Amino acid sequence: MDQTVSPLAARRSGPLKGRVRVPGDKSISHRALILGALTVGETAITGLLEGEDVINTGRAMRALGAKVERAGPGAWRINGVGVAGFAEPGAPLDFGNSGTGCRLVIGAVAGCPITATFDGDASLRSRPVKRFLDPLERMGARAVSLTDGGRLPLTLKGARDPIPIVYEPPAASAQLKSAVLLAGLAAPGETVVIEHEATRDHTERMLRHFGAELTVQPNGAHGRRIALKGQPELVPAPVTVPADPSSAAFPMVAALIVPGSEIVLDGVMTNVTRTGLFKTLREMGAEIEELDARLEGGEEVADLRVRHSGLKGVEVPPERAPFMIDEYLVLGVAASFAEGTTRMRGLKELRVKESDRLAATAAMLRVNGIDVEIEGDDLIVHGRGEVSGGGLVTTHMDHRIAMSALVMGLASEKPMQVDDTAFIATSFPGFVEMMRGLGADYA
Ligand code: S3P
Repeated sequence: MDQTVSPLAARRSGPLKGRVRVPGDKSISHRALILGALTVGETAITGLLEGEDVINTGRAMRALGAKVERAGPGAWRINGVGVAGFAEPGAPLDFGNSGTGCRLVIGAVAGCPITATFDGDASLRSRPVKRFLDPLERMGARAVSLTDGGRLPLTLKGARDPIPIVYEPPAASAQLKSAVLLAGLAAPGETVVIEHEATRDHTERMLRHFGAELTVQPNGAHGRRIALKGQPELVPAPVTVPADPSSAAFPMVAALIVPGSEIVLDGVMTNVTRTGLFKTLREMGAEIEELDARLEGGEEVADLRVRHSGLKGVEVPPERAPFMIDEYLVLGVAASFAEGTTRMRGLKELRVKESDRLAATAAMLRVNGIDVEIEGDDLIVHGRGEVSGGGLVTTHMDHRIAMSALVMGLASEKPMQVDDTAFIATSFPGFVEMMRGLGADYA
């Protein structure tokens, strides 16, 4: 990625107005490229997120033998190699900043008889990868080398004859679930993942979309049992990528906190495994209206009308965390402008994101005058209905910290400085320009 540091300041702005479509969903974009590459024949994708994270996954698919071509903006064609058909790459696979791309491809490679090296930037190199290897080694893959007690770079030798397993992830993680299911594609028999808390289900939906046999049953109050029949022949099918709810979260919260705002966000995915933030904001008093709810490419989508709203503090239950895991930073912003205390419970997984987001959220709010506490895995924000601002926010190579701070500064008394906005391009290219188009004052 371009290493130029790009600081930016956000200033109190007039009402945000307009109708926009945020870029395609990141989770679905990664999966479309990976599953397209494991399909025999040509898969056409429209609306692909052309952020750096996804582009790196596309490069990895090419290095593993698939033909990957860009036909136009967001329009891509993949000619896949079939299940277990990856070729050995000639050089290390570089995933840049992307945990999702890297972990999913680790899973897909684990089921193939090849050796590949996985690497990334300083942020990705600092994140643990060991827990992905535990189930994949049970399936027959082997970590040939691993750095610093479980970090990238990692060299992985995939299984020649992968073994199907029954796996209970130790954490609510869609990446862990997906890595095992992708490895399980190459195994005979049934690979089973038992989740105690359900996580985003895009891998399951897309596996079915490409013709795999998969059953999903409830497991307890919040979990699911997913069983995949191995060695399917995946058949090409077009993929339409809906707008990313995790990206929509930023203009949404901006409109809620800037007085007089009214915006419409077009075609946002409303799959319930992703909309924990929308639910929480509504509980806080947010006016978010769903217009024209419909199905697009097998996912629920709607246009969302968002108006400036008075917000109040709420308690966010821990079982909601998997359905809004990437949204706590921006929820922290909304909670700062709310009246009263917001307690966000059970945020352990936030510590292993692009940065330690539990600490980073607290730091971002504190430096702007907000009273915040961390108690165990809970984040507690004491909102007073207004934010003084004036702080310098450190982004730690984390796109979502940068965007959250740029939202917060639009309604704080004093301008807010962000040390580096460059990493926004990993997930939301064009963010600053889109926000300016709605009326945001960035300089
Ligand atoms: C993702 C899963 C989540 C999320 C990430 C995308 C995915 O990570 O934070 O941005 O596409 O599967 P975990 O599964 O590690 O919680």
